[in-house]
Amino acid sequence: MKRKILVVDDKADIVILLTDRLEALGYDTRSANDGEHALRLLEEYAPHVMLLDLEMPRMSGLEVLQYLNRERRPEFEGDKRISARTERLPDVPVIVMTAFGSIEKAVEAMKAGAYDFLTKPIDFDHLSIVLNKAFKRQVLERQVASLRTAVEDRYGTIVGRSPMMVSLVELAKRAADSDATVLLLGESGTGKELFARSIHRWSARCEMPFSVINCVALTESLLENELFGHEKGAYTGADCLRKGKIEEADGGTLFLDEIGDMPLPLQSKFLRVLQDHEFPRVGGTRPVKVNIRVIAATNKDLRQAVRDGAFREDLFFRLNVVPLSLPPLRERPEDIVPLAEFFLDRHVKEMKKSPRRFSTDAVEAMGRYPWPGNIRELDNAIARAVVLGTSDTITAEHLGLNGGSPASFDEQLLPYHESMERYSRFVLERALRHCNWSQTKAAELLGLQRTYLSRLLKQKNISIPPPRSSS
Ligand SMILES: Nc1ncnc2c1ncn2[C@@H]1O[C@H](COP(=O)(O)OP(=O)(O)OP(=O)(O)O)[C@@H](O)[C@H]1O
Ligand SMILES: [Mg+2]
Repeated sequence: MKRKILVVDDKADIVILLTDRLEALGYDTRSANDGEHALRLLEEYAPHVMLLDLEMPRMSGLEVLQYLNRERRPEFEGDKRISARTERLPDVPVIVMTAFGSIEKAVEAMKAGAYDFLTKPIDFDHLSIVLNKAFKRQVLERQVASLRTAVEDRYGTIVGRSPMMVSLVELAKRAADSDATVLLLGESGTGKELFARSIHRWSARCEMPFSVINCVALTESLLENELFGHEKGAYTGADCLRKGKIEEADGGTLFLDEIGDMPLPLQSKFLRVLQDHEFPRVGGTRPVKVNIRVIAATNKDLRQAVRDGAFREDLFFRLNVVPLSLPPLRERPEDIVPLAEFFLDRHVKEMKKSPRRFSTDAVEAMGRYPWPGNIRELDNAIARAVVLGTSDTITAEHLGLNGGSPASFDEQLLPYHESMERYSRFVLERALRHCNWSQTKAAELLGLQRTYLSRLLKQKNISIPPPRSSS
């Protein structure tokens, strides 16, 4: 598809010159000779870029920009009534053209939302560069928007009607109103990240970054680098300054996932960030100031870790300002069916399948099953059932829940990748069981790095049963 460029100038010779040149470069063009005409074409032609002269009779280029600004960024952004209008006026980058020497006008136009400016007479090499930059930005913006929607879809809704969930959501909303540090506790797959993202979205910081760091997946020095960033020349290979996650979160929220796995030396350094709101990057001494709200999550018993000397008590108190404990799914059976239906609806839509429903035995089996992997396991079970099922009814068998034990991998002939997947689960689970669910020992037995094993378990949704309390 050819890219479309709208050329707006009241001087016919300039319009002809520009459109000829642009068409020779392979673009599609239309032109307008004043501001009002340009606005009409903007709706009708929906160009990818607009080249706009600033000095025109009737409606000037600046007035066009100001009009677009008003229409696109209304005072009440949430007001649904104006959205129809904003959709009709596409958010095109506007490149303004000014007479040589009238730089103040260009500055004014940039303030009013122009993407870039060119001075007349137009230098065509410069025009090409600016156009390419504008197209690249459009592609990036589209990618960001689609990634954002994907994340928002996944982490956009909290389903749950059990009294426990209702009051947790209530509490989380109240916490979101403040800048208080939140500590999310709960087994794997209970929704800790979902709550962290929701709290950020409900907070005054929602337009600012949400920056995530997982403390389990990295070695100590990599984690330090990721968190604090580094100065240029901090070590061999650090050839430019790099901001860390703390700095990226400035003005927004920092989500520290699996905080229970943060090595002790980093715990001390991070504690100082919480106390002083500043820190030096790795290899630097200059303090970097930040304004962040911290949300931390773990599936570990942090109090026990404090007693064992694996977690600093002072950091624990700093984090434990608003603790939210997410109950495992088996303790809130009333949430199973609403969640199952929510996931079914999502997967059917995503995979473009015909509508499905659960059979009675599927509903009963879901209620009986202990869901060690919690909501993530339920989500995966339903995704699998949607893929494998052929009729409009999902049975306990489709969910892999007949009798509560999934079919053994050697009973059926399955495609290669699925067989391998089942076999690797089998090997991992057998090793873990053998080592009494100690990941460190199982990793040793399997000849894997402990962090790699953790990642595998997460990927494959294998959960470690919570330790039995020894009272
Ligand atoms: N109440 C809920 N309603 C809808 N979806 C949920 C709910 N709770 C969790 N989920 C979904 O289940 C999946 C797992 O949740 P999440 O990643 O938040 O869990 P987690 O506690 O962070 O797990 P882990 O400790 O393994 O990282 C996500 O896709 C999330 O959107
Ligand atoms: Mg998580």
